[in-house]
Order: sequence, then structure tokens, then C-alpha cells
Amino acid sequence: MKSHIQDLLEQTLASLKDQGVVPADFAARIQVDRTKDKSHGDFATNLAMMLTKAARMKPRDIAQLIIDNLPASSHVAKVDIAGPGFINFFIDENALANQLQHALEDELLGATRPTQQTVVVDYSSPNLAKEMHVGHLRSSIIGDSVVRSLEFLGHKVIRQNHVGDWGTQFGMLLAYMEELRAQGDEQASMQLSDLENFYRAAKVRFDESADFATRARQLVVELQSGDEYCMKLWHEFKAVSLSHCNDVYQRLGVSLTPDDVYGESAYNDDLDQVVADLDAQGLLATSDGAQVVFQDEFKTKEGEPLPVIIKKADGGYLYATTDLAAMRYRSNVLKADRALYFVDLRQALHFQQVFSLARKAGFVRPEMTLEHTGFGTMNGEDGRPFKTRSGGVVKLVDLLDEANTRALELVRSKNPDMDEATLQEIARVVGISSVKYADLSKNRASDYIFSFEQMLSFEGNTAPYLLYAYTRVAGIFKRAESIDLSQGKIVLEHEKEKDLGNKLAQFSEVLNRVVDKGTPHAMCGYLFELAGAFSSFYEACPVLAADTEAQKLSRLMLAKLTAKTLKQGLNLLGIETLERM
Ligand code: ARG
Repeated sequence: MKSHIQDLLEQTLASLKDQGVVPADFAARIQVDRTKDKSHGDFATNLAMMLTKAARMKPRDIAQLIIDNLPASSHVAKVDIAGPGFINFFIDENALANQLQHALEDELLGATRPTQQTVVVDYSSPNLAKEMHVGHLRSSIIGDSVVRSLEFLGHKVIRQNHVGDWGTQFGMLLAYMEELRAQGDEQASMQLSDLENFYRAAKVRFDESADFATRARQLVVELQSGDEYCMKLWHEFKAVSLSHCNDVYQRLGVSLTPDDVYGESAYNDDLDQVVADLDAQGLLATSDGAQVVFQDEFKTKEGEPLPVIIKKADGGYLYATTDLAAMRYRSNVLKADRALYFVDLRQALHFQQVFSLARKAGFVRPEMTLEHTGFGTMNGEDGRPFKTRSGGVVKLVDLLDEANTRALELVRSKNPDMDEATLQEIARVVGISSVKYADLSKNRASDYIFSFEQMLSFEGNTAPYLLYAYTRVAGIFKRAESIDLSQGKIVLEHEKEKDLGNKLAQFSEVLNRVVDKGTPHAMCGYLFELAGAFSSFYEACPVLAADTEAQKLSRLMLAKLTAKTLKQGLNLLGIETLERM
């Protein structure tokens, strides 16, 4: 509906332009919003106010002119002017009902399909030397939810798990692996099963033994020159580390597979070329023996120039160098229209610098967008970054285990007579969903406090609330299995039916917002409101005991669309639904 009104306004602007009233370039600035107060209609626009200068008319006069030129539409019941010059649109209830009827049969549930784009999404991207910890949660699940939404709308998504699989720390890890191998394969694989300890033990050896440290440094050099033995050790290490990641993805319901891994090492051979190209364009400077790029717009707090370091004095390359190569690949080989980076906001400056440099160097096609869809920190109840009691990093698997245990207790207390297998399955879904939903429902740009109690509550905007709401709607159909809806027609009479209908019709707008801005919390907020609108409707409007057969079918159809929308919405968040809980 919103895009329909936008279309109408665009056509109107075109005709006003032909009449010489407004200049050409206003279409992109049309903004249509839902009204908060229904006495102002369903949608409003401030377009008339925006045009006053260009048209040299009073806003209310332009508003009238727009209304006079608006193409007729069967979806719009009434249009009027309010306040200083807002234009309010009242949607025709029959049109709304028809739209919902169509959504019920539509695989996109009525969502408008945008022009298809190729979107590269860089997410999860852990450093492989460590096991996945809570710091990797946000990128993995927020990124995955946006990926699912993009694909649902028909975009071509290329997942890029830009894992940190290259760099000096690998020398240390390989040296340690070599030592363990010497003690037998069993020893090595046992130790590798806990990467966190493996890393720590390697670090201890590195610090305590000069010979070990020398060997580690030697292995880095050999690895970088492509030495076969080193490569083999490195591949083995990577395989173990990646299989840990895959276990976590599967458990979390994150859609990344081994095929999506395209890590830092993949760009290794291109780094010399990156330097050469920057040099050829006169962008490189030398600073303390290192090759750097200074960009005028980046300065330190003290006003000193702030360079991007491209190549260290010892010849080593940096994180930024790899990102430059990666951007070029994403633009020229993958042909992305958009590249999204789900990475901690603490890397904001890094991305500003490399994005701007990639543009200056012509590494990306001008029409491709580079978007750092960053996120804040997940904090503990004390407001500081989430840690174990002893101050260590919390492994993601441990966090999920605890969520599972707590969910099991909760589900058991609500269903004392349920069999163990069913309890376990429900607890698995509730546990994982709660962790994911608590994170996804927050605006990604802000920090948030991780609280098991809150996320497992049945009240408020939580996973248990929504999962339960879904089981209630689904439950209605269990009781109505034999009823044939094919002859039904949605009619919106009761106030609460209209409210629910209006909510259902917003799915498209919300989904498009999630995809444009990379903000799944918009979907969470929407589903929560939808569940609320359904419960008000269900309280006020008997469904199976409706007054007439036609009314019963109409209400069942509304319930069915609600169930479908909740399920689809949760699925786009990467959250499984339950038929009972
Ligand atoms: N591995 C990096 C880290 O753990 C994140 C990589 C993000 N992606 C990128 N293209 N820089 O901080």
C-alpha cells in the first residue's frame, strides 16, 4: 500500500513537472509514513511542505494541487489536507481486505519484490586461531538474518566468511602442532579439540622457549613463501578450526557453509598488486619505513595525519591491505551492487578509511555501495563486555549450553507431564531462539546487556512470547482442520479486525526496511506488534464461534495469514517455530 501511494505521488509529480510547477528531481525525496493517529488516515506525506520553495507556493496550496492531480485509485478511499500542509491518505477497507486475500496465496506474503541486486554479505568472519566466542555471535546472527531476508525478496546473495586465517600468529600455532605431532597423532588431535587451550598452550611455549619462538617465526616465513610442509600443517589446522565453526553455525541455525569461506589468505597473491596499483596512482607514501596512504579527511584527535598502513617496514601486509584486495574482488569479480560488512562498530574507522581509499584508487565500481553495518557490544549485567566469572572470554558453545539448560527448566516447569524427548526438543528451540532473538531485537548499533532472565521471559518482546503466540494461532487451525477456506472472503468489519488487517499489510514495508538498512530489529518489533494485534482481535472477535459462516471463514483467514506471517518473519530471523510448547 505504501509503495502504491508512493507510485501515485510519483505520477503526480511527473504531471506537475510537465505543467511547469515543480522541477524534475523531487521523486526520490517523496516520503510516505504511516500515521500514528487513525483520525489522520493511514498514510501521510509532507511532500507539499518540501515543495514550497521550488514551487513558490504556500504548502496548503501545493497540497491541494497535488490532490487535484493525483491519479484515481481504487485503494484510496479519501485524501485530505491537515495542519500546515500534510496530505493524509485513507485506505479503502475493501482494497485492504483484497490485498490480504492476495497475500494469503502469495509466496512473498504480499511483499513487493524490489529490483534484483547482487549483494555480498561479509559476516561471522572469525579469526581461526581462536574458538568462536560471544564476540562472534552478533555478526553471525544479524548478518544471517539480513541474508535470509535479502534472499527471500529475490536478491542474489553471496556470503563471504572472511575468516582470519593468515598472519603471524599462525607461525606459533603451526610450531605447536609440529611439536604435538612429534608426540603422536592422537596427542595432536586431542589437543586440537579445544582450540582455546591449544592457542593458550602454544602461547606458553612461545613465551617460555626461545627455540620454539625461533621455529615459529621461521614457519611464518615458510608459510608465506608457500612451503609445502607448512601449507599442509596450516591446512590441517584450518580444517579443525573451521569444523568447530561449522558445528556452531549448525547449532545456531546460521546458514553459512564451508563453501562460503573466503578468508584473508585467499587474497594473499593479490597484495603485491594492490601495493603496486596504489603506488602507480601516486597514493603511497613512506612513513618510518612502512608504506602508507594519507587521506586528508582522516586526522587524529590532535589533528595529526592518520595513515592507512599498507605494508610494514618488515614487508608484512596488514588487515587493511587484505580488505582493499577483497573490495576489488567483490566489485570486479563478484559484481556486487552492494557489499555489506557485519563487523563490530569498534572497527568503524578502519572501514571509513579503507572504503574511501578503495574509491580513490578506483578499486570498486562507482555504482557499488560499501556499507559497514556495524554493531555494538554485548555486555554483562555489570554493563561491561560479557566475560566469565574469572574474567575470561565466554565460548559460544558454553553460552548456548547454559541457555539450553535454563530453557529446559523453564519448559519442564510449565509442562510437568510432558515426555522427556519432547521437552528436550522444545528446550533446544526455546534456548537458541531466546539467545538469538534477544540480540536481534535490539538496534544493532547500540550496546546491550545480555540477560538470561530477560530473554527467557514470557512477557515483552522475547522469543518465548512470540513462539507461544505462534502456537496459539496455529492451535486454532488444529481445531478447524476440516474447514475449507477456499470459498472464504476476508471482510474487515470490527475495529480489531481492521487493526489486525493493517498490521498484516505492513509486512512488506518492514521487510524492505530490514533489507535496505540491515536492521532485523525492525522485523522483531513488527512481529511483536502483530502478535499483540492478533491477541486483541482474538479477545474481541470469536473465530470458531463467529456469528455467521462467512464471518468465521474471514476470521480464520485472518488467523491463517497471521500464522504464516509470524512463521515467515521468525524464519527470516533464523528462528524455528514450535507447534506446541
Ligand atoms: N576477522 C575480523 C575480526 O575478527 C573480522 C573481519 C571482518 N571482515 C572484513 N572484511 N574485515 O575482527
